[in-house]
Amino acid sequence: MAVATATRPVAVIGAGTMGSGIAQVFAAAGRQVYLGDQDEASVKRGLATIQKSLDRLVKKGTLDTAARDQVLGRIRGEARGAAGQLAGSLRECAIAIEAVPERLDLKKAVLQELDRLLPEDAILATNTSSISITELAAATKRPARVIGMHFMNPVPLMQLVEVVRGLTTSQETVDATTEAARSLGKTPVLVEDRPGFVSNRVLMPMINEAVFALEERVATREGIDTVMKLGMNHPIGPLALADLIGLDVCLDILEVLHRGFGDDKYRPSPLLRAMVAAGRLGRKSGRGFYEYSDS
Ligand SMILES: NC(=O)c1ccc[n+]([C@@H]2O[C@H](COP(=O)([O-])OP(=O)(O)OC[C@H]3O[C@@H](n4cnc5c(N)ncnc54)[C@H](O)[C@@H]3O)[C@@H](O)[C@H]2O)c1
Repeated sequence: MAVATATRPVAVIGAGTMGSGIAQVFAAAGRQVYLGDQDEASVKRGLATIQKSLDRLVKKGTLDTAARDQVLGRIRGEARGAAGQLAGSLRECAIAIEAVPERLDLKKAVLQELDRLLPEDAILATNTSSISITELAAATKRPARVIGMHFMNPVPLMQLVEVVRGLTTSQETVDATTEAARSLGKTPVLVEDRPGFVSNRVLMPMINEAVFALEERVATREGIDTVMKLGMNHPIGPLALADLIGLDVCLDILEVLHRGFGDDKYRPSPLLRAMVAAGRLGRKSGRGFYEYSDS
């Protein structure tokens, strides 16, 4: 199966931050990519993001213009049709990765639509950060072929892919997905389907604790971040990282951990809740724990 699937096209649904990066790395690995989104403007924005990212590589001298054009030539962007349906070009795809916003109903609907359109043997992967793979799989008619493929942001630069095995995911699906991640030059790590997987289960409590420390005035924001950078050799402090991820996203994931484990050690800090309520979401809103004049 792995050999046959490796030559067939790939579908990426959702051309935002993650989807555009995922489409780029598959195309750079030589795969034909169908990049779907809900409207023309979103598709255009996704393709422009990919172009910009590849242009940066050309500027750095790691890619020549001919290779850039080849990568771009392998990606076909397509908006949903007038009736809101995804295109029939999905019929050839060996794997589809959904990267639509983190909402259970939306993800279920997109996966069900892909389930109807994709060939029977195709793998349905989700880039969810926190939703149960098992629950998403149960919404489709191919639960054995549903899996988590959790890329990190920014996708072209980050080495890790968490391959998340749901309760019903088959070993064949795990093997083919692991192989697909390797073919992109990434390092896959197999994890089981538990709230937050490994990445967010470990990262989010650290960020949350940093917010508690700030709230209790244990140190200033710069002090907390400097302790973690210089003391623990982290490339970025937890508060600056929370701003980068988005405080709303951090809060959502902490709620998933809190609910999923029923353990108060994951309760979100009241300051984090207040920041989100005030619209201080981090870099994307121009202000989080720090201020950003370029957003
Ligand atoms: N941003 C991150 O740092 C990050 C990291 C890892 C995983 N994730 C996960 O990746 C997924 C996508 O996140 P993102 O940050 O790329 O979001 P985003 O908002 O940047 O992009 C989502 C895209 O999906 C499109 N979309 C919405 N509804 C659609 C539909 N019905 N059909 C097709 N396209 C539709 C939107 O138009 C948008 O272009 C989420 O599940 C998120 O949890 C995000």
